[in-house]
Amino acid sequence: MQQLQYIDGDYQDPATYQQLRKALGDAKGPAHYLAIPPSLFGPVIEGLSRSGCAENARVIIEKPFGHDLASAQSLNATLGSVFPENKIFRIDHYLGKEAVENLLFFRFANTFLEPIWNRNYVHSVQITMAEKFGVTGRGKFYDETGAIRDVVQNHLLQVLAFLAMEPLTLTYHESLRDEVVKILRMIPPLQPADLVRGQFRGYLKEPGVSPNSHVETFAAVRLRIDAWRWAGVPIVIRAGKCLSMTATEVLVKLKQAPISRIGPAQGNYMRFRLGPELSISLGARVKRPGPQLVSMATELTAVKQDRDDEIDAYERLLTDAMHGDALLFVRSDAVEAAWAIVEPILGHATPLFDYEPGTWGPMEADGLATEIGGWHNPR
Ligand code: BG6
Repeated sequence: MQQLQYIDGDYQDPATYQQLRKALGDAKGPAHYLAIPPSLFGPVIEGLSRSGCAENARVIIEKPFGHDLASAQSLNATLGSVFPENKIFRIDHYLGKEAVENLLFFRFANTFLEPIWNRNYVHSVQITMAEKFGVTGRGKFYDETGAIRDVVQNHLLQVLAFLAMEPLTLTYHESLRDEVVKILRMIPPLQPADLVRGQFRGYLKEPGVSPNSHVETFAAVRLRIDAWRWAGVPIVIRAGKCLSMTATEVLVKLKQAPISRIGPAQGNYMRFRLGPELSISLGARVKRPGPQLVSMATELTAVKQDRDDEIDAYERLLTDAMHGDALLFVRSDAVEAAWAIVEPILGHATPLFDYEPGTWGPMEADGLATEIGGWHNPR
């Protein structure tokens, strides 16, 4: 307890930062963790700078990082005028998740996946982030945010980047973040026709939510990656609150075998469960036991882990930030590339469909996945 000191003050008041400067004493590399309302990022960064608190310091920034591309660029400019990029730690807690990091390991620590991980073998990719709960006391924040800004622009595009990026090289540390930026830049900006938005019935009665809010609590998008590896592979992503269950899952379907009595929906696939539990499974066909020569579906599970073994994503990331390792933090160019992808679909111009809590979102979203055999609902 003796190590803890509390400083009370107004973010807008220069005296607050003078007190902080005094309390920092001769600290060599202080880390300022800004888990504060986004509108205060600018004033606080300036306050830290003017008082000398930013010297040799690091800054950890909680999401949301900007509200759109322009605000993210302006926040990057403010931060960059005070801190060098390698001292800025933009949090996306998905990057600290064991299951998300495992995507990279499963892809790049094995040889068997690489030959098929491309448009010649991959039929389609779908990512679902379903949450059974609603906005749970965060109505005011959520109503200024919505599903696209809350989880698609950051968590789910990061997951897609790990699934789709080229292998990193070990010759230099920034390689991982370079590859993430490269793949994000290959995703053309989403168009309104590729989006279905929904709002669960009852949202408008949540505390903090405007009674005539047009904010989406569900978003489904269809996109593509203009890369040699991925050209023509349909990719769909959906996320929603008050859905049927809580599960984040990626399904990479492989193309159908040429001689087969089964449709592509039942063929080979890789299924990555990213939460709440962690598993990686391969969907395969085997012979159904018995006298007839017919196949049946089975799943081989490569990894299955309970979350008890896992260190919390925040614990992981904050420890990295203390050690000065920014690898699992979002670089300025990546955050801007991700905003550029969702920029054309932000706002309330597209229709908003109602859905019943406990379902898989509005039926209208089905149309986005028709060509790939429909959405796969985690079980
Ligand atoms: C947060 C979002 O970033 O991620 C929340 O603001 C969401 O709305 C949460 O519920 C999900 O995180 P996790 O780790 O529970 O999947």
